[in-house]
Amino acid sequence: NKVVLAYSGGLDTSIIAKWLQEAYDCEVVTFTADIGQGEEVEPAREKAQAMGIREIYIEDLREEFARDYVYPMFRANAIYEGEYLLGTSIARPLIAKRLVEIAEETGADAIAHGATGKGNDQVRFELNAYALNPDIKVIAPWREWDLNSREKLMAYAETHGIPIENKKGKKSPYSMDANLLHISYEGGLLEDPWNEPEESMWRWTVSPEKAPNEPVYLELAYEKGDLVGINGERMTPAQVMETLNRIGGEHGIGRTDIVENRFVGMKSRGCYETPAGTIMLKAHRAIESITLDREAAHTKDELMPRYATLIYNGFWFAPEREMLQAAIDQTQQYVTGTVRVKLYKGNVIVVGRKSPYSLFDEKIATFEDDEGAYDQKDAEGFIKLNALRLKNLAKRQR
Ligand code: ARG
Ligand code: SIN
Repeated sequence: NKVVLAYSGGLDTSIIAKWLQEAYDCEVVTFTADIGQGEEVEPAREKAQAMGIREIYIEDLREEFARDYVYPMFRANAIYEGEYLLGTSIARPLIAKRLVEIAEETGADAIAHGATGKGNDQVRFELNAYALNPDIKVIAPWREWDLNSREKLMAYAETHGIPIENKKGKKSPYSMDANLLHISYEGGLLEDPWNEPEESMWRWTVSPEKAPNEPVYLELAYEKGDLVGINGERMTPAQVMETLNRIGGEHGIGRTDIVENRFVGMKSRGCYETPAGTIMLKAHRAIESITLDREAAHTKDELMPRYATLIYNGFWFAPEREMLQAAIDQTQQYVTGTVRVKLYKGNVIVVGRKSPYSLFDEKIATFEDDEGAYDQKDAEGFIKLNALRLKNLAKRQR
């Protein structure tokens, strides 16, 4: 038997690769993807080889991740519990999909991941995998083994010849996860929600205090709800995100520090850096503000929390997510145009928006003479009828 492991090349998943070989006496296939985490993926090959692994998959999935997962999600302006831009949540379906596909390609009957039994990630990997292959088996070592302390893990690594030292020589005190959309930090001193994160924790952004005193302006081009270019240059989704992460990071954009509700029931404290996502959310709302009908926009906003929760909880490949996606995509037909933003010390400030399909009518909205475009007398009856029931209620109150 054979198992496909989501392998980062780090210590924990290296231990898992070894442990699977021992505990299950099985052949392990490793799968390592570049989804924009900003770390080399090639070193995973040598590490896997050193553990005797013969089938090693290393893939650059940045474009697919940005185009087929992040971009559709941003059409919905998705945000979980008012703060979390779902950076980890949205990457899991893609990893799960590739694990299942590679299992089918290599004749493996199982997949394995390095998520713990306490978190969201296990749920996301597994629900998304089962949705794509009902027969797939899942092995989650963290829920099975007794290597439940750092000490035991280190001892296991040592006796099995797995190198413990990483490039920087020290393991970060945080549990981190990174991709094109964000980098996340949990654990360590963050486990007390009263503790302010130390400045040295943040890796992608400068603090707003240290950001340049001069703002930067960007022109963001949208087509059917998707950001397709910056400052007149056409870019792919991954290029857009890499560019905005860099510029946003320089201006201290996109730090958040939150306590969120995990699907498994516990509250958890996390810090996130999401520079591109923070800019994209603001800018997308701005282009929608002139191109979407009011009721379409409001309906979208009502559906959004539901949609965000589906992604957070691991239901990307579920019919209710696809249903909502179809509705959301339908609204984006005329969400085309340009948004101008100013980035300044941690703030994304929208300063302009225009569209060939704009519904904004200066003629009607003006405070000056509108030459009969709007008859103010019409408002009187409009208010009167809307007031009817309110007056009725007020009378009864007397
Ligand atoms: N709390 C976030 C989420 O549930 C981030 C999880 C980070 N995952 C990790 N393996 N470090 O989406
Ligand atoms: C984990 O428990 O593996 C990471 C955190 C999470 O999945 O929520």
